Amino acid sequence: MSNTPLKSGLYGKPDRTLVSIPKDARQCSPLFPQSADIAECPDSSLDHFAVAAPAGTQERRFVLAHALRALTPEGQLFAVAGKKKGGQRLKADLELLGCSNIRVDSKKHQKIASCSPPSDLSQIHAVIEENGPQLNEELNLWTQPGIFSWNRPDPGSILLMEHLPEFSGRGADLGCGLGLLSYEVLKSDSVTEMTLIDIDRRAIEMAHRNVSDDRITFLWENARHGPKDISELDFIVMNPPFHDAGEEDHGLGKAFMERAATMLKKGGVCWMVANRHLPYERTINEVFSSFTPKADSHGFKVIEAIK
Ligand SMILES: C[S@@+](CC[C@H](N)C(=O)[O-])C[C@H]1O[C@@H](n2cnc3c(N)ncnc32)[C@H](O)[C@@H]1O
Repeated sequence: MSNTPLKSGLYGKPDRTLVSIPKDARQCSPLFPQSADIAECPDSSLDHFAVAAPAGTQERRFVLAHALRALTPEGQLFAVAGKKKGGQRLKADLELLGCSNIRVDSKKHQKIASCSPPSDLSQIHAVIEENGPQLNEELNLWTQPGIFSWNRPDPGSILLMEHLPEFSGRGADLGCGLGLLSYEVLKSDSVTEMTLIDIDRRAIEMAHRNVSDDRITFLWENARHGPKDISELDFIVMNPPFHDAGEEDHGLGKAFMERAATMLKKGGVCWMVANRHLPYERTINEVFSSFTPKADSHGFKVIEAIK
């Protein structure tokens, strides 16, 4: 056996009991701030790639294609996905990318597919081209499969946009996605600064293309942990997420509200939208001094909270 250290890539958090992950494997998921960009991994440079394959078909194929592209001809891909979250389709996806000799195992309600890259990379390049960053001409927005509401604006965000007041001063868009809310907010000349924050690097990159304005700063950051150095804001807009890694997680919405409150000045306002069923009022009461429901329609509620 060779003593050369394995050069390894990692995408997301595959179950370590199902696939071996070398200690120094390089994280390449866009949902891990500071990680590498899978699209920047040089061709044919890695021996091993462990992927928690995303549930969305286009996103999954894009990731598998890049992982295969980055592997040496003898390198090994290990892709893991829940049976009902794309796992059943891993083999077909890898065949579509030109792979053969695909081994598929089942364990703990997951499928684990492993193979080496094909010698002909033409399908891999076609899939990367088709499912990477793209201009949606109908929406006139840059987007990419995998980003929140990547091909259809969220109805909750649209409701919020319809009710936003004209803001002034310094603000932030917490969980900015493609930048729709900021696009609306920045129509006001009285807005002097706007920080767009998201945990998804792809969202930050697309928002950069969609809303270019000298008043903007972009931050690739997990709102559970930061930003810690922004305070005294006049306003915040947000449509807080309530899913983490595919599972409903009300703690994430709570974390967004707490983060918003720490970033605002006293008397600063937070305009948010949420699905009507989400019990956010309790947290709002805890971290803001008052709040007013501003709209309630089609299963969504818009709330103005004042610090
Ligand atoms: C419901 S979407 C709203 C997106 C955008 N504001 C809109 O209205 O279209 C929530 C956004 O929060 C981001 N997000 C999820 N978890 C996050 C976290 N822990 N920190 C920062 N952003 C997060 C998601 O990537 C997503 O873009």
